[in-house]
Amino acid sequence: MATHQENPMNDSVATPPAHASTDTTVLFQPIQVGELALPNRLVMAPLTRNRASAGNVPTELNATYYEQRASAGLIIAEATQICPEGQGYIATPGIHSAEQIAGWKKVTTAVHAKGGRIVLQLWHVGRISHSSLQPGGKAPVAPSAIRAEAKTFVAEGFVDVSTPRALELAEIPALIDSYRQAAANARAAGFDGVEVHAANGYLIDQFLRDKSNHRTDAYGGSIENRTQLLFEVCTAVAQEIGAGRTGVRLSPLTAFGDVADSHPQALFNRAVERLAPLQLAYIHVIEGETGGDRHPQPFDYAAMRKPFKGAWIVNNGYDGASAAEVVSSGRADLVAFGRPFIANPDLPRRLREGAPLNPLDGNTLYGGDAHGYTDYPALD
Ligand code: PHB
Repeated sequence: MATHQENPMNDSVATPPAHASTDTTVLFQPIQVGELALPNRLVMAPLTRNRASAGNVPTELNATYYEQRASAGLIIAEATQICPEGQGYIATPGIHSAEQIAGWKKVTTAVHAKGGRIVLQLWHVGRISHSSLQPGGKAPVAPSAIRAEAKTFVAEGFVDVSTPRALELAEIPALIDSYRQAAANARAAGFDGVEVHAANGYLIDQFLRDKSNHRTDAYGGSIENRTQLLFEVCTAVAQEIGAGRTGVRLSPLTAFGDVADSHPQALFNRAVERLAPLQLAYIHVIEGETGGDRHPQPFDYAAMRKPFKGAWIVNNGYDGASAAEVVSSGRADLVAFGRPFIANPDLPRRLREGAPLNPLDGNTLYGGDAHGYTDYPALD
């Protein structure tokens, strides 16, 4: 059982108060998420920061950054490539080499020493890559050989992503095994679990949505076929490390990475329905456009959630008041914060006390050093 909480959305919709409360105490109620006992409902969202060292190895600086944020109920560490082909941007960390596992061990040890919990987001970018980042300078892989209208960041700066080649059917088992091995590596590195990245127009999302998936084999065409890779990856990861240590992130409406679907509600309702029997610890949903418009089109998240009994994490533009409202209404169990956690290492305390938040420096998000990374001040 992923969570001991009842899911009130399965029965009735609670009416929110006329004025959203600024009392955030509901966010500080502990919750069991799969195997993980969390002291609060505040999740640090996975955030790409492009500060891995040569070989895409995490460093002491990365350990300091995460350790500073250990008061989160759960840290979801940044998107991390499961294999060399899974990389799409410069200086993003991996979890496929011994050096990377050793680097991540510094991070998990530091977070655990501060009393925190941390899972790793398992990432394959698919077509959102550039041949200069790929082994042998080859084309990136994707469900279909369709170039995304998207940019990535390489040694020379921002460039258009490369035209991918379609994965062959015979390559899919090895791909799934890369996710399984990455999950095992994450556990070896001391992570409490993993989050399968199936959002934001990266590889699994490219398979899910029909703008990017034009396959005619068992992984394309019908909704059943397009949800097959997601299902098989989550099954393999859960078998490897336990369903209670496995979460998944979905973004039904985002257009990030040039993805779209003709029937998102039917697609994502079925995706969750297929995942439900796996009894994963949590599903983490980006509501609307990633980092943008929360309501680009109508979508019934309660309908999507209905078959799932585990913990439900929502994300995208929440503040303390709206987070408290969504948790107290029962529409979510936890809320993930991205940008506020970059600028506020002690975000939970600030939300509990109603303290002001540090502003975000948009110039230091991607790449660089300690500046804009580990030098945001905590209270006191
Ligand atoms: C990014 O590198 O910009 C990025 C990475 C992972 C995401 C979204 C954005 O899920």
